[in-house]
Amino acid sequence: MLEGKNVNLRVVEKEDLPLFAEWLSSLEVLGEYNPLRQVSRLETEKMFENDKAYEMKEFIIEKKDGTKIGFMVHFCVLHPFCGKQLEIGYALVPSERGKGYCTEATKIMVDYLFLSRDTMRIQASTDARNLASHKVLEKAGFKKDGTMRKYFFLRGELRDVYVYSTLREEWKEPKILTRTT
Ligand SMILES: CC(C)(COP(=O)(O)OP(=O)(O)OC[C@H]1O[C@@H](n2cnc3c(N)ncnc32)[C@H](O)[C@@H]1OP(=O)(O)O)[C@@H](O)C(=O)NCCC(=O)NCCS
Repeated sequence: MLEGKNVNLRVVEKEDLPLFAEWLSSLEVLGEYNPLRQVSRLETEKMFENDKAYEMKEFIIEKKDGTKIGFMVHFCVLHPFCGKQLEIGYALVPSERGKGYCTEATKIMVDYLFLSRDTMRIQASTDARNLASHKVLEKAGFKKDGTMRKYFFLRGELRDVYVYSTLREEWKEPKILTRTT
């Protein structure tokens, strides 16, 4: 478990999969800026057991009392010539938004990845209109790299996506992750 001040990140276990499948299929949880799809428990299980393609790792974001409030994932985006890019993604249940939890969870994940991975860069991509997500990334030390224009289809239109990144040389040292159990 990756421990922060107000939230912890706990690796998704098999017993979390029904809730995880529910969140991945939920318009409420994914919000209006993420591709919407319906994910079965079986598909979530397969993703969980055989994540080799994207090297996906899933975490539950929990409050200190153990309440499950959302998820954070890290995965790899593969480019044939430039190699792997380490990317993060996240979502919170609507009732727990606007309390700083995702910013803290993002800082924890950045500390963890720079402490544990041989990577110079962590990236995140987000709908150009997703102001809450931009704010989270900027507060967690990410900078905007640029725009991928008309990158994915949602709600009848092609959406622009902003790519953000933070570099090891900007991060320098852990900001929040002081304890793991
Ligand atoms: C994006 C998301 C994870 C943010 O989580 P959160 O816990 O509410 O984030 P935080 O409270 O740490 O920070 C949100 C910041 O955005 C601001 N914000 C929220 N909605 C906003 C809006 N519509 N316009 C501008 N700023 C906004 C908040 O005021 C806060 O900034 P502040 O601390 O300076 O006041 C959450 O909104 C969510 O789950 N959305 C749906 C899923 C999603 O879009 N995931 C991102 C995919 S890239």
